[in-house]
Amino acid sequence: MEIFKQIAPLKAYLRDLKCQGKSIGLVPTMGALHNGHISLIRASKAQNQVTASSIFVNPIQFNNQNDLIKYPREIEKDKKLLEAAGCDVLFSPENEEMYPKKSILKLDFGHLDKTMEGEFRPGHFSGVALVVSKLFNIVEPDHAYFGQKDWQQFAVIQKLTEELNFNVALHSVETLRESDGLALSSRNLRLNPAQRDVATVFYKGLLQARTALKNGKTVGEIKPQVRAFVEQYPGVRLEYFELVDSKNLNVLESVEQSILPIMCIAGYVDEIRLIDNMFVN
Ligand code: PAJ
Repeated sequence: MEIFKQIAPLKAYLRDLKCQGKSIGLVPTMGALHNGHISLIRASKAQNQVTASSIFVNPIQFNNQNDLIKYPREIEKDKKLLEAAGCDVLFSPENEEMYPKKSILKLDFGHLDKTMEGEFRPGHFSGVALVVSKLFNIVEPDHAYFGQKDWQQFAVIQKLTEELNFNVALHSVETLRESDGLALSSRNLRLNPAQRDVATVFYKGLLQARTALKNGKTVGEIKPQVRAFVEQYPGVRLEYFELVDSKNLNVLESVEQSILPIMCIAGYVDEIRLIDNMFVN
């Protein structure tokens, strides 16, 4: 695996590969890699001759400084995982390379970045969209891979790509879960054994909600049930549960209102914030 910390040599290296007609797949990450990330690498390898990944803990997408400081950094372990997965290129820049000057550009996605995560993490999606734009410009990938786990992020990046005419095909990869259903997440590293035990409530809440929605219940009817279910565990707090259209993220009251509705959930186990989602069909 070729490792780059600077933009210019990475671009030169990729230019050569492109001249040879090789297609490039990009997997952007913030490191602390787990098998969920690796499933994106596999998806890219299945479709491209060259797979590039980035590891960059993007400061401007953190609205909580404590979260940024506490974000796990395990670059040496990450390199081994990427290498073992057959990743060809790693871009792991320092802050100064990505933001030589303080970034002032803000990207506004209207409803897409105000709802759900946007309400609780102001500025987050602007920061995500900016760094993904930079990565698209730096790598110029043919394909880029994102996890379904962060569905709202994927919806924002779809809009970004459409509006700015980025010449890249986007793919969302199914959420990889532990055997008990907990979605793999870098934040799971912060859960102690007791917290880990209850962390599956969000997934179980989604399963129950899906059954209820399929049985014709409305969101108004099931919201209090989802809250009561997850909050029966001490230390667990529901932030939101919504049924939305998976494309425009409009909030729905019943499954008939969209061709592809998705349920999204977020909450805390003590101070650790977790999110999950599930398509209804
Ligand atoms: P990060 O949280 O490191 O996630 C990198 C990618 O891995 C995202 O596309 C995310 O959706 C995907 N992912 C996380 N957990 C997953 C799981 N259990 N199964 C499948 N895919 C999973 O998301 C980011 O970084 C950043 O916002 C980024 C896009 C890199 C911009 O900074």
